[in-house]
Amino acid sequence: MRRAKISIIGAGNVGATTAHWCAAGELGDVVLLDIPATEGMPAGKALDLFQASPIVGFDAHLTGTNDWADTANSDVVVVTAGIARKPGMSRDDLLSTNAKIVGAVAAQIRDTSPAAVVIVVSNPLDAMVQRTFQVTGFPPARVIGQAGILDTARYRAFLALELNVSVEDVSAILLGGHGDTMVPIPSCTSVGGIPVTQLIAPEKLEAIVTRTRNGGAEIVSLLKTGSAYYAPAAATAQMVEAVVRDKKRLVPCAAYCDKEYGVGGYFVGVPVVLGSGGVERIVELKLLPTERAALDKSIAAVKELVSVMDRLTA
Ligand code: NAI
Ligand code: 2OP
Repeated sequence: MRRAKISIIGAGNVGATTAHWCAAGELGDVVLLDIPATEGMPAGKALDLFQASPIVGFDAHLTGTNDWADTANSDVVVVTAGIARKPGMSRDDLLSTNAKIVGAVAAQIRDTSPAAVVIVVSNPLDAMVQRTFQVTGFPPARVIGQAGILDTARYRAFLALELNVSVEDVSAILLGGHGDTMVPIPSCTSVGGIPVTQLIAPEKLEAIVTRTRNGGAEIVSLLKTGSAYYAPAAATAQMVEAVVRDKKRLVPCAAYCDKEYGVGGYFVGVPVVLGSGGVERIVELKLLPTERAALDKSIAAVKELVSVMDRLTA
């Protein structure tokens, strides 16, 4: 059986770590691409990772390159190209630089891997996934943003820490944009099947939501030289797995919503079914009035971000 071809654009922290998770999980053969100025860096990382394969016991070819031709006809392309946050910067501060980088990357993907499912990670996520959609012209189902799995994982991890239970027993979902307006849905949060509201007092739950919203900034302030990459890469690899193994995972991702949730043609974090076709279905939840109001605020923030990007790239 032919192995899936997974190209990862940007061989920095998130890109290389995504390559690590994908190879270790035998999700397919991996091509790591970075700009010509990085010369042998992607090839060095790919070779190093390949040399781990006899120890860990995985079969995957790994290629590092500066040449887009090596990515041709990928099944999945992951976009991590761009600059990352430093202390004091918001994700939105990256907008102007990364819109140009992601626009150029999207044009290359359109020309080299026209049938690929594209998973965008670069920030500000909700605008970068829209930019990729605009430039590739791919069907909306094949352009997806990674944010919700990461944000939800942070939330689940903090809840497990608070309750001193296994992370495996915490199930939750966060909607909306990847930013300060992300929306927790307490009615969909449970621990071992028990509604979280029966286990944690409202003010404590609110503190955990706040820590989750600031989850990326907390890591930036500790690292000082860049932003998070282990959990973001694990989240991205979970999306790759859902596509290459046609898993039909029901997970939160930034997906193109038109009539769904009344969004009107923007990428917003919503529950989706992910399979070989990319986003195979968007799941519409019945929201409480407070949850709906929070989602509307988040959608408005995404629209504002995209309109600034559209002015910058016009
Ligand atoms: P990094 O700086 O370690 O790596 C970025 C890489 O992109 C660099 O190696 C750079 O040379 C490369 N690059 C720049 N322009 C390129 C181009 N035109 N073509 C190919 N490669 C290019 O940054 P890191 O930590 O890997 O983060 C990457 C992006 O992902 C950032 O924008 C960051 O904010 C975002 N991010 C998003 C998350 C999410 O949940 N959506 C989570 C974590 C990071
Ligand atoms: C994060 O949430 C920086 O978006 C990245 O860690």
